[in-house]
Amino acid sequence: MTPTTVGSAAASVRNLLTDNPELYETRFPDPERLAGRWAEDCLRRHGAGPRVLDMGCGTGRDAAYLHGTGREVTGADLSEAMLAHARTHHPGPAYVRADLHSFALGRGIFDAVVCLDSALLYCHTNDQLGGFLDSCRQALAPGGVLIAEMRNGAYFLGRTDLLDAPTRNAFTWQGAVYRSTTTLTVDHTAQLLRRTRVWTVDDGSPSVEQHSAWRLLFPQELRHLMAAHGFEVLELHDGPGPRTEPPWREGLSPGSTADADRLHVVACRTAP
Ligand SMILES: C[S@@+](CC[C@H](N)C(=O)[O-])C[C@H]1O[C@@H](n2cnc3c(N)ncnc32)[C@H](O)[C@@H]1O
Repeated sequence: MTPTTVGSAAASVRNLLTDNPELYETRFPDPERLAGRWAEDCLRRHGAGPRVLDMGCGTGRDAAYLHGTGREVTGADLSEAMLAHARTHHPGPAYVRADLHSFALGRGIFDAVVCLDSALLYCHTNDQLGGFLDSCRQALAPGGVLIAEMRNGAYFLGRTDLLDAPTRNAFTWQGAVYRSTTTLTVDHTAQLLRRTRVWTVDDGSPSVEQHSAWRLLFPQELRHLMAAHGFEVLELHDGPGPRTEPPWREGLSPGSTADADRLHVVACRTAP
């Protein structure tokens, strides 16, 4: 059967997982709230104040974790489905619709912005990246911190293991088996990692082909962008983090290399 194509440029944020947040949490479970705990550890180590903005908050589970530690959290996302899920299933934070590429939620009203699991890489162009960093800078109080965790573009230099063959995954949700076949390709000109994912469900529904992309950001490029938009990089490393192997756990310190699949950055808003 010919797959239905979704994920057009006009609706880049729409995809099967972000339109079905419960499916997203089933596919990417984090029962121990590792990402939230890692973010909280970064916030504490850098002495961040209580007001946190989680940009690209998705299902809201990290925002709610941070809320549970006593912080005043706002979660922001472009997907209405994600926001509705977050309000119902992960209450506590305020949830608002905002675009990573450019947002204005108030001047100097946050002590920290967190942006987890490659949400930042939905800024595909330099203008979008600049818009994100300028918006964060405006939202942060002086000395506020930006914490982001994402795929590492540098990992793809000279390595083809993630590109060579499609990866297959299967999981069960509400009694149906979901199978995905994912193919990654590098668009060298746009500096994007493009993903094609074909979903089949054993409930008789037609298969769905979905296209999305992440910006391939290199560590030194990120450092340069941060400086150009008024941030001083305090940490930039490939782990340990919530999605590294082995994963981060309490007590582990940031490493000093930026070679592996994930990139973690903590930066501080410079004066004035
Ligand atoms: C991979 S998910 C990460 C979600 C969450 N941060 C987490 O770690 O579970 C990326 C999220 O970014 C959101 N997103 C994509 N493009 C966006 C944009 N331009 N503005 C705001 N959110 C966006 C998606 O809706 C999705 O919730």
